[in-house]
Amino acid sequence: MVRLQSLKVLTLVSLGIWGPLPGKIANLSSLEIVNMSSNFIHGSIPYEISTLSNLQTLILDNNMFSGQLPNWFGLIPALNVLSFKNNLFNGSLPNSVGRLVNLRILSLSHNQFNGTVPDLSSLKNLQVLELDDNAFGPQFPGLGNKLVALVLRNNRFRSSIPAEASSYDMLQKLDISSNTFVGPFPPALLSLPSITYLNISGNKLTGLLFENLSCNSELDVVDLSSNLLTGSLPRCLVSNPGTVLYARNCLEKPNQDQQPQPFCHTEAVAVGILPDRKNHTQVSNVFLSIGIIGGTIGGVALFLLIFFLIRRGNAKSKIKNPQTRLISENAASGYTSKLLSDARYISQTKKFGAVGLPTYRSFSLEEIDAATNNFDNSSFIGEDSYGQMYRGQLKNGLLVAIRCVEMKKSYSTQNYMHHIELISKLRHHHLVSALGHCFECSLDDSSVRRIFLVFEYIPNGTLKSWISGGDARKSLSWTQRIGAAIGVAKGIQFLHTGIVPGVYSINLKIEDVVLDQNLVAKIGSYNLPLLSNMGKVRNGSSSSGFKNSSINKSVKHEDKSDIHDFGVMLQELILGKTIKSRKDVDAFKDLLQASIAADDEARRSIVDQAIRKACLDQSLKTMMEICVRCLVKEPADRPSIEDVLWNLLFAAQVQDAWRGDSQSSDGSPGSPLQPPTLTFD
Ligand SMILES: *[C@@H]1O[C@H](CO)[C@@H](O)[C@H](O)[C@H]1NC(C)=O
Ligand SMILES: *[C@@H]1O[C@H](CO)[C@@H](O)[C@H](O)[C@H]1NC(C)=O
Ligand SMILES: *[C@@H]1O[C@H](CO)[C@@H](O)[C@H](O)[C@H]1NC(C)=O
Ligand SMILES: *[C@@H]1O[C@H](CO)[C@@H](O)[C@H](O)[C@H]1NC(C)=O
Ligand SMILES: *[C@@H]1O[C@H](CO)[C@@H](O)[C@H](O)[C@H]1NC(C)=O
Ligand SMILES: *[C@@H]1O[C@H](CO)[C@@H](O)[C@H](O)[C@H]1NC(C)=O
Repeated sequence: MVRLQSLKVLTLVSLGIWGPLPGKIANLSSLEIVNMSSNFIHGSIPYEISTLSNLQTLILDNNMFSGQLPNWFGLIPALNVLSFKNNLFNGSLPNSVGRLVNLRILSLSHNQFNGTVPDLSSLKNLQVLELDDNAFGPQFPGLGNKLVALVLRNNRFRSSIPAEASSYDMLQKLDISSNTFVGPFPPALLSLPSITYLNISGNKLTGLLFENLSCNSELDVVDLSSNLLTGSLPRCLVSNPGTVLYARNCLEKPNQDQQPQPFCHTEAVAVGILPDRKNHTQVSNVFLSIGIIGGTIGGVALFLLIFFLIRRGNAKSKIKNPQTRLISENAASGYTSKLLSDARYISQTKKFGAVGLPTYRSFSLEEIDAATNNFDNSSFIGEDSYGQMYRGQLKNGLLVAIRCVEMKKSYSTQNYMHHIELISKLRHHHLVSALGHCFECSLDDSSVRRIFLVFEYIPNGTLKSWISGGDARKSLSWTQRIGAAIGVAKGIQFLHTGIVPGVYSINLKIEDVVLDQNLVAKIGSYNLPLLSNMGKVRNGSSSSGFKNSSINKSVKHEDKSDIHDFGVMLQELILGKTIKSRKDVDAFKDLLQASIAADDEARRSIVDQAIRKACLDQSLKTMMEICVRCLVKEPADRPSIEDVLWNLLFAAQVQDAWRGDSQSSDGSPGSPLQPPTLTFD
């Protein structure tokens, strides 16, 4: 296996693999995702893993790994998912974990870790922290405020809940049950903008509750039981249709079993409160398991032998060996597994779609400010009905386009997560791909004021600027025009079928298609209609240019309005004219229709001067035919995007074959056209 130098994803799950993890796994130097859950792997994690500089995801759940987590984990900067649930790790967590700035998910549930959790407040991307069933404590960990799920259940925490907890705007799940948290319960936790699950049961939290406290209406589970709370249960909890538990406190007018008030007061005094130390030092040892490295050779042999044995008898052993089945995935909350699969999804689209782009992530306001030089005038690109656009440069040098979307209503970040999820999928070779987002929240009520959407910046101008005369730029050749059309069609195909839910009615305009330095066409996704659902549209009309009055709004043919708009773009590519009105579209359609039936000479006479000589008649005719079919009045009669793509590829193929035979070049060496094979990627 060590010869698989370009292997990126290694999944060896539930195979009954036994023995230590050999250090030679690091010879697979391209590894990005490793999932070895549910085996019998024991010993420590080999030091060699630290040399896997592309490793993003390491999942070793449900094994028998033991010993301390080594300090060198901080050396793998790309890590964004670490999941070691259900193992036998012990000792304290190394401080270097606090330097894994890309970390999004850290799951260490059900091990034997102890000691203080290192300061994680610089992990700005951390969304999921699961430390349940360990012996961590006593201080509440320092955390960033991007958290979505925080699970500290069943540890040895014995501090108060810090004030920052009330600023976890994205937090959906908070479980700090079964610890010894003391001090006042912050009622603000009930009204965090995104919270749906809150479990503080089994602590020694004190405080007076009022009937008039407010809660998030999305709260689904609230468990306050077994604390030292007094006062009355908030009305919003009484009327909450979800699960609300509060037994074994000292609340008034209880429906659930309560203690007498003095009990809570005496207990509260008895527990005392630890001072909240912020900066704690901690000794962490680097354990290199020399024994394991020494035994690597034998280990590899054993590992491979077992691997192949198991694989050969896999089907049989799965049924025969009940042990393997018993340790099936210890499925965490649906939420986390969604994030995990999300992580996987993103890394897959990165491979198959938008090659070479950084992972989609959330940006901080500081980063956006820095990238645009505090929204300096020189960064301003333009403004349209959705808001302003800025050009910027990230710290790593990458050029980006940043769209500011102002919110129409004051909603919490939670309300926009659905949109953000859609936008994060807009990554494809023929789309201006999304790189990330940033929420700007109001200080008063932490509702979202603006969302900044960060896209790649495509420097080479719009497709329009490459076809119509009068512009300084060189005009595209015929082959390059077909290539651009194929690119746009592939982009549309991706939007329709490559993501779920599909994006339709994108209001395609030639001005919104841009070319990169290799003249690869990309649809500018920052104008997609899904943005208009979340932002406020400023001047009533969501689109500039002319309206396509015949768009049939019925869901049945929602893909066909894009086909129509694509047809208009083809007209512009063929004729080299800007088409401004519905009347133009019809007039030019009739012209094209007539010239298809005419002779070669007449046909050629209407096309853009710049390409007139170089286009082969068969290729031109094919393009005109598909263009006319795209513009048919009745949406149902327009061709499918696959049909369009097939015809474009055909037109490219005949043109290419002709150019090859006759040696007659149209002056476009290095055209962006890929070999015309039928690949619908
Ligand atoms: C694995 O990597 C080590 C260190 O880079 C190297 O010495 C060894 O030859 C490699 N093994 C194989 C089989 O490629
Ligand atoms: C951690 O576990 C290892 C092996 O299981 C043991 O030798 C070691 O003493 C333990 N360390 C601590 C700090 O408990
Ligand atoms: C962690 O547990 C080990 C063994 O049980 C113990 O020696 C060590 O002092 C503990 N560390 C902390 C910080 O509690
Ligand atoms: C809250 O946590 C406790 C202890 O971890 C658990 O027993 C209880 O079922 C949880 N409550 C809810 C409603 O899930
Ligand atoms: C809630 O009620 C308490 C006492 O009943 C009162 O002191 C407090 O001002 C009220 N708060 C609000 C926001 O009405
Ligand atoms: C790891 O593998 C298990 C079993 O196939 C799977 O359920 C889990 O989703 C995988 N984790 C990731 C992040 O892909």
